[in-house]
Amino acid sequence: MSAIESVLHERRVFAPSAQAVADATVSGMDAYKALCAEAERDYEGFWARLARETLAWHKPFTKVLDESKAPFYTWFEDGELNASYNSLDRHVEAGNGERVALVFEADDGTVTNVTYRDLLARVSRFANALKQRGVKKGDRVVIYMPMSIEGIVAMQACARIGATHSVVFGGFSSKSLNERMVDVGAVALVTADEQMRGGKALPLKNIADEALAMGGCDAVHSVIVYRRTGGKVAWTEGRDHWMHELSQAQSETCAPEPVGAEHPLFILYTSGSTGKPKGVQHSTGGYLLWAAQTLKWTFDWKPTDVFWCTADIGWITGHSYIAYGPLTVGATQVVFEGVPTYPNAGRFWQMIEKHKVTLFYTAPTAIRSLIKASEADAKVHPKSYDLSSLRILGTVGEPINPEAWIWYYENVGGKRCPIVDTWWQTETGGHMITPLPGATPLVPGSCTLPLPGIMAAIVDETGQDVPNGQGGILVVKRPWPAMIRNVWGQPERYQSGYFPAELGGTLYLAGDGSVRDKDSGYFTIMGRIDDVLNVSGHRLGTMEIESALVANPLVAEAAVVGRPDDTTGEAVVAFVVLKATRPQGDEAVKLANDLRAWVGKEIGPIAKPKDIRFGENLPKTRSGKIMRRLLRSLAKGEAITQDVSTLENPAILDQLGESL
Ligand code: PRX
Repeated sequence: MSAIESVLHERRVFAPSAQAVADATVSGMDAYKALCAEAERDYEGFWARLARETLAWHKPFTKVLDESKAPFYTWFEDGELNASYNSLDRHVEAGNGERVALVFEADDGTVTNVTYRDLLARVSRFANALKQRGVKKGDRVVIYMPMSIEGIVAMQACARIGATHSVVFGGFSSKSLNERMVDVGAVALVTADEQMRGGKALPLKNIADEALAMGGCDAVHSVIVYRRTGGKVAWTEGRDHWMHELSQAQSETCAPEPVGAEHPLFILYTSGSTGKPKGVQHSTGGYLLWAAQTLKWTFDWKPTDVFWCTADIGWITGHSYIAYGPLTVGATQVVFEGVPTYPNAGRFWQMIEKHKVTLFYTAPTAIRSLIKASEADAKVHPKSYDLSSLRILGTVGEPINPEAWIWYYENVGGKRCPIVDTWWQTETGGHMITPLPGATPLVPGSCTLPLPGIMAAIVDETGQDVPNGQGGILVVKRPWPAMIRNVWGQPERYQSGYFPAELGGTLYLAGDGSVRDKDSGYFTIMGRIDDVLNVSGHRLGTMEIESALVANPLVAEAAVVGRPDDTTGEAVVAFVVLKATRPQGDEAVKLANDLRAWVGKEIGPIAKPKDIRFGENLPKTRSGKIMRRLLRSLAKGEAITQDVSTLENPAILDQLGESL
């Protein structure tokens, strides 16, 4: 609770400057309230207006929201459109073909500009290549690629022909990649020979080969490889193809395939509290509308802006605010291959200066690690760079602590730039609760108020509203166009997980705890209420890590909890019982390292436990349930105040309290 309390005690308020209000699309709180009132008054009319203004429809919709199969809602269902046409062709047709779409900066600093006309040609060639390889509308294509122009081309090409993509983050292991390819029923995989990050090459194609060899992927008839480094790769004739060779042979025109608004644009896997990661299924029309609309509202995007979102295309932020939102509005955006600390921790600031970035969107984890680095070395401090181009700053993925907020505001934004602390999720498609830069007075650590049309609320365990000032469960009361449509292949998991009967069956359960300020009604996110951890803004299910640990032949039992961490927000702490006797000293250190590597192999390096502790047993209740609250206290190094009289062997608390 300490972090929450510190936010609640936050009294500093930063009102937008008169200039920011005057310049903004949503100009002042009255304009914000008018939009909210419009949505309240005529919910469907409000969304229909935005959908008509923001997107180009191949066939206009006549229906807006259909709630008859709730919670399987549909939006704009009889309308048809193409996401790639909306992202590319219409800007070229409007005479903006020479506008730069992507300013791609490679790990080594090499910059490549791609105009809208170029991007359309590249996407069309690759779309034709996919078709030539037999990929059809409705097929699923898995994309396992580095941050690259080609990654965006692959996503857009799928959208162009009506194939549904599923991007798997390049940091996931072969096993994670295999599970996702199997679950989604992929027919093709697009990958790269290697990925370059921080001066190091990582062998993506090798990992992909391993994943394909694990079985269950017989439907994958084509593996298409982007040659990034020229590193050595194994080759399966007939199945494997170079992306450039396939594309070269193609025409640079490819008619976009119109799809129904509800056609699945993509499936993106994310962690939940139970079971394997779930495939979050998004629509085409509703999703694209919100990716574009939020860029205009939250980032007050204008054609003169240079937008930079530092996320990876493997996460939802990279889908909505790299691959789709910026292209749909016709923005110029920076795309970065590398990491914030290479060649030094001034990389972000240097890139903002170089590309004259105006809108900058990153994660609290990155900010916190760069604070540390710049305290140690003035050369990489943002003050050593010209950041005067910046207009608006954003954060996403986890709560930002007020100290980091103030540092970001003062040192990066020069006390001029509003910070939009955007709360949303893989499932929500786009921003949900966030300040508007030309309207909302900012309070560090609070994501402030819901966007117009988003009916966010806080309820108790029975679904009843709680008064402001009282913490509770964050829900959304009405469906919105960009919401998750289904958990791929598991409709019952969608229904029970997101619309639980306990809350009445109609409220969307976000899985976060939250509280609204007594006076302002501002929301503050208190973190997950389920067994999901947030490490560096990445979602990890504790159960997934536990399953990975117990899959190791040496491990009898494991429990995983989160512990607050200064840099990564939360850190993974694993309590492990081995089949053999409890290891000590050097042996324990070695085993812990082996298990860490094991988890890296099973899931990916992001899931590696920071701290592993060995015990002879785990603390359990009489009914055999692991006492997680106790483990959380042990992980934090807190004194145990809970009743432990039911513990069979209280001595294990001393064992599990010891860090290696
Ligand atoms: O706990 C919330 C946290 O991240 C979760 C969603 O994770 P994911 O689906 O991976 O999407 C991350 C990028 C949108 C949420 O349930 N979260 C996200 N944004 C914020 C946040 N917590 C606090 N403040 C935020 N701005």
